[in-house]
Amino acid sequence: MRRLFPVTDLTAADDRGEWSLDALADAYAYPDTDGPWLRANMVSTLDGAAQHDGRSQPISCASDMRIFGTLRGLADVVIAGAETVRLEGYRPARAREAFAAGRVAAGQGPAPAVAVVSGSLDLDFSLPLFVSPLVPTLVLTGAGAPPDRIAAARSAGAEVVLAGEGSRVDPARAVRELAARGHRRLLTEGGPRLLGQFVAAGVLDEMCLTLAPMLTAGDAQRIAGGPSVAVPERFALASVLEEAGFLFSRYRRI
Ligand SMILES: NC(=O)c1ccc[n+]([C@@H]2O[C@H](COP(=O)([O-])OP(=O)(O)OC[C@H]3O[C@@H](n4cnc5c(N)ncnc54)[C@H](OP(=O)(O)O)[C@@H]3O)[C@@H](O)[C@H]2O)c1
Repeated sequence: MRRLFPVTDLTAADDRGEWSLDALADAYAYPDTDGPWLRANMVSTLDGAAQHDGRSQPISCASDMRIFGTLRGLADVVIAGAETVRLEGYRPARAREAFAAGRVAAGQGPAPAVAVVSGSLDLDFSLPLFVSPLVPTLVLTGAGAPPDRIAAARSAGAEVVLAGEGSRVDPARAVRELAARGHRRLLTEGGPRLLGQFVAAGVLDEMCLTLAPMLTAGDAQRIAGGPSVAVPERFALASVLEEAGFLFSRYRRI
């Protein structure tokens, strides 16, 4: 892996070869802010596909997964839409030795909590994600979600957070509710329908985008869907890493 941006005097031989998880954790450190910081991590093909055959794995690579793991290792909570949880078979986040000391120093628990956003609560609450996580899983839903499903989530051990009226979650309120529970370093892994709502609500602070050197054609979703914003929101390039033609970019909201 090599750093393409920012270019410094140190951008040289030191950057070649596989980066240690410590080096990646430094490169992706959360900024020191008082309030919550919402980062998204997504992968896209050159022609904008965010999945192939319903999964992101075919358009990912080993370095992408290493960064994916690093971003989890730095986060207080991982926020995912219910469809991604269902299709990608989400499991609880693991405690990893490589991030243990950093997490203790940052006052974090051993692994990030997973927060699932769902209106229907049509989720299998007997899965390990809900019954045996290291850190209790959060379920973000609306006040009007089916009461029997709310009860099922709670009896599985999940913490149900009401963050909207009706069955819908208000994305800005979801961020506030997570922050109120001490989660400042937020990471969303999508999917596109959820990410589009964070974008439209103007609460996305950072976009970590892997550009895969692949073309798939077809009509797969882009990384963010839903209604478009009135005015395109500008982001500034923070860094770009490269490995085997994959670009690992990081953009911050200006
Ligand atoms: N390229 C990447 O980096 C990447 C990342 C993640 C996922 N993906 C791919 O994207 C696909 C899935 O993404 P998706 O966009 O279809 O779905 P998604 O965003 O993961 O999940 C959509 C679901 O989340 C819940 N939801 C979203 N917004 C909500 C709100 N405001 N209030 C209440 N519930 C809300 C709803 O769940 P209920 O139906 O339960 O109400 C909705 O059906 C998969 O193919 C996956 O492989 C790609």
